[in-house]
Amino acid sequence: MKRKVRLKDGSDVVIRPLRKEDIDRSHAFFQALPPEDRAYLRVDVTKREIVKRRIQTMKSCGVKRLVAVVDDRIVADGALELEAPGWKEHMVELRLIVARPFQRKGLGMLMARELYLLAVKENVEEVIVKMMRPQIGAHRIFKRLGFREKAMLPEYVKDMGGKRQDLIVMRCNLEAMWKELEVYLAESDWQRVR
Ligand SMILES: CC(C)(COP(=O)(O)OP(=O)(O)OC[C@H]1O[C@@H](n2cnc3c(N)ncnc32)[C@H](O)[C@@H]1OP(=O)(O)O)[C@@H](O)C(=O)NCCC(=O)NCCS
Repeated sequence: MKRKVRLKDGSDVVIRPLRKEDIDRSHAFFQALPPEDRAYLRVDVTKREIVKRRIQTMKSCGVKRLVAVVDDRIVADGALELEAPGWKEHMVELRLIVARPFQRKGLGMLMARELYLLAVKENVEEVIVKMMRPQIGAHRIFKRLGFREKAMLPEYVKDMGGKRQDLIVMRCNLEAMWKELEVYLAESDWQRVR
């Protein structure tokens, strides 16, 4: 799967699966994130070893990863974390991060669409996202995608600075997510030139 998409500012981006050869590109992407966006990552992906492990264990951990690429540089990273067979196998966790210079150009929504299509292939029914309270952009985009806040664990996780943060869990079923995606993409003038 490889898809060329056009952003609101007219720039073209390729969305494709993350590959084994992407270790340095992925490392560079995470290193370039501003501290405000990096603070809420689950693990310190500014360390090359962690990026390498993240890529090497994708298959065994049931994780599907997509990246958006411009001029051979990764500018967004998205993931679907599938559950092992069992009581949560109908659920998938979605994660998404867009490089600052590419935010608010519709790339998050276009990545969400590709992740949605992957989720459909995997026959899952529902998607969850987890975020820390200060992640306002994340809360807004997922609300726009039909997700609703279903749980909040006060001061449950620590950000990269060691500060305790509330963990927010939002959920959405796949059908509802598609409806919102369709509305957003249909309303966007910039999508009509694609
Ligand atoms: C959350 C994130 C992925 C959004 O990506 P993006 O490419 O900027 O999102 P889009 O441009 O597709 O935005 C789609 C809509 O979401 C909403 N939105 C996104 N970011 C927003 C923000 N910072 N403030 C308010 N609304 C926002 C808007 O409704 C926007 O539509 P509009 O620009 O037409 O008004 C990006 O801000 C990011 O990477 N943040 C840091 C990491 C993070 O918190 N990831 C989520 C963890 S799961």
